[in-house]
Amino acid sequence: MAVDNLITGRRKNLVSFRSHARFRFHQIDIVDQAFVSAFQQTPIDVIFHLACPTGVPNIQRLGEEMLLTSSVGTKHVIDLARQHRAAIIFTSSCEVYGQPELSPQHELYTGNVDPIGPRSAYEEGKRFAESLMVALGKKYGLDTKIVRIFNAYGPHMSPDDQRVIPRFLRNVSSGSELTIYGDGTQERTFLYVDDLIRGLLLVLQHGQPFEVYNLGSDRPTTINELAALVLKLTGRTNGIVHLPHFIEDHYRRLPSLEKIQALGWQPLVQLEHGLQKMIRAWRITTPANGFRSPVYVNPEAATIKSVPLLD
Ligand SMILES: NC(=O)c1ccc[n+]([C@@H]2O[C@H](COP(=O)([O-])OP(=O)(O)OC[C@H]3O[C@@H](n4cnc5c(N)ncnc54)[C@H](O)[C@@H]3O)[C@@H](O)[C@H]2O)c1
Repeated sequence: MAVDNLITGRRKNLVSFRSHARFRFHQIDIVDQAFVSAFQQTPIDVIFHLACPTGVPNIQRLGEEMLLTSSVGTKHVIDLARQHRAAIIFTSSCEVYGQPELSPQHELYTGNVDPIGPRSAYEEGKRFAESLMVALGKKYGLDTKIVRIFNAYGPHMSPDDQRVIPRFLRNVSSGSELTIYGDGTQERTFLYVDDLIRGLLLVLQHGQPFEVYNLGSDRPTTINELAALVLKLTGRTNGIVHLPHFIEDHYRRLPSLEKIQALGWQPLVQLEHGLQKMIRAWRITTPANGFRSPVYVNPEAATIKSVPLLD
């Protein structure tokens, strides 16, 4: 069973589940009290709580929804888990570390977050949700675990997702310049979705209640390097344009992975391979006779029409 209000998600991503007789999708907002009552009679063993509007460029527009989903919505997820004695895996974010003064960021690092800064709706929302997970988990004897994800990506990301990899792929598809905010020396790590899912399942099976686990790639990559890699893998020669950052940026994010590695997890998909999978799924052709694919095509293209790029 999946629940989503589709604020940043897409119904199309569920196409491949149609053949599963027992799969059910419910379009509902977890902030809505009806979410808790709707599933009283549904047996639930585990809740993967991934709901939250995402993307740093969305913070200004969807800050209220981020805060309410992380607070009221997370409280409702816990209420539902209490009814069923279900375990919860909560997907938090490396953004809880704010502008890190330490690298790599260990789970014990308490972070450097401005509670009223431009990124606070997402950062403080996730911090509050973590606090709820631990405080209420202990109070009500629930099995709650927290995973802090560091930049993950994959083929089913929305074509209008504002995060850097989908944005660069849109740029190459449309033949426009790749937009880099700032000088591009800011470092990130990029985790392919398959590695992410393995990590979440491993934490569910072997993680300790009330503990936090970083989950990300161990390969630091600057945004300049990422842009160069996207151009290389797509065989494109688009220019690169640097613009002033639209929001205070974080210089470096690098997860300390000792804790999740101790559970037996390692990232398996190299950035090149993950990007290639995404490029293939998005049907971005390498140029032949000057041809450029102007459209984004969803991987489930057999049943779905091409969608024009949005920028
Ligand atoms: N992908 C990353 O790099 C990354 C990094 C750190 C944390 N995370 C966290 O992992 C989770 C999944 O992220 P994603 O990258 O798949 O993003 P996503 O936007 O694809 O998925 C989040 C989903 O939550 C849904 N949602 C938002 N508010 C909701 C609400 N009130 N009720 C019901 N559904 C709601 C959205 O419609 C969307 O489908 C999010 O909580 C995100 O904060 C992701």
